[in-house]
Amino acid sequence: MDNRCIGVFDSGLGGLSVMRHLIERFPHEDFVYFGDTARLPYGTRSEETILKYVKGDMAFMDTFHVKMVIVACGTASSVALPRMERHAYPVYGIVQVSADAAVRATQNGRIGVLATETTIKSAAFEKRIAENDPAAKVFPVACPLLVPLVENGCIDDELAVLGVEKYVSQLREQDIDTLILGCTHYPLLRGVIQKAIGGKVKLIDPGEETARFVERILSSGEIEPADVRKGEHQYFVSDSVYNFSAMGSLLLGKDIAKQVKKIDIEKY
Ligand code: DGL
Repeated sequence: MDNRCIGVFDSGLGGLSVMRHLIERFPHEDFVYFGDTARLPYGTRSEETILKYVKGDMAFMDTFHVKMVIVACGTASSVALPRMERHAYPVYGIVQVSADAAVRATQNGRIGVLATETTIKSAAFEKRIAENDPAAKVFPVACPLLVPLVENGCIDDELAVLGVEKYVSQLREQDIDTLILGCTHYPLLRGVIQKAIGGKVKLIDPGEETARFVERILSSGEIEPADVRKGEHQYFVSDSVYNFSAMGSLLLGKDIAKQVKKIDIEKY
């Protein structure tokens, strides 16, 4: 048994859409979550800046006794993960996990990707999908308006429908059968996205796929699961504890206010 914790980080709140699935699926595991709310958004920044931020995020993760780290940010997993130096524990990214899941899911080899500008520019999804299935055709769409919409609570109103339509309409003629929600904010728009693309297209949710992936790792013995006990969850942010606690409690469906602490990420 391995009672070390699982580290999860994102640029802010979005990674909680991954945490939600992880804590539901693994009630005995301890989790440490970091949301870099002071430096959000990552999705519109240069690769150089993302690399610098992620170095600090990983240095913070290093201060815990982690058995693995999940990069629950599409942008960070696209840009920084492929260039990351080796750590004493494995590091997995939602882009790689979601791309692999899409290749397994597609029947016609035509996969759409919605993600931030920086993720799309990095071509990380295309590269990973091509490694698994060189014949697959990928249709990437950068969606700069979707993170601000979610951050402002527009997840199922008229604005959300308009924002989603702007991007999903570009995919409608492409005959895709699988669509990757390539940013951890987008599962919150899942209902609107599914309606816009049509019920026949399979959506790949990074949180669901990451939980399945971690399940495979823990059951294969590659990394041992924790003892049967109640897992502890700690949350850290680099900006307002209050804002994160309020939105985070809503997203996770439980009050996390007492577990959220502020840190100075510039020190790492
Ligand atoms: N969490 C980021 C991602 O998944 C989106 C938010 C941001 O731009 O920082 O790419």
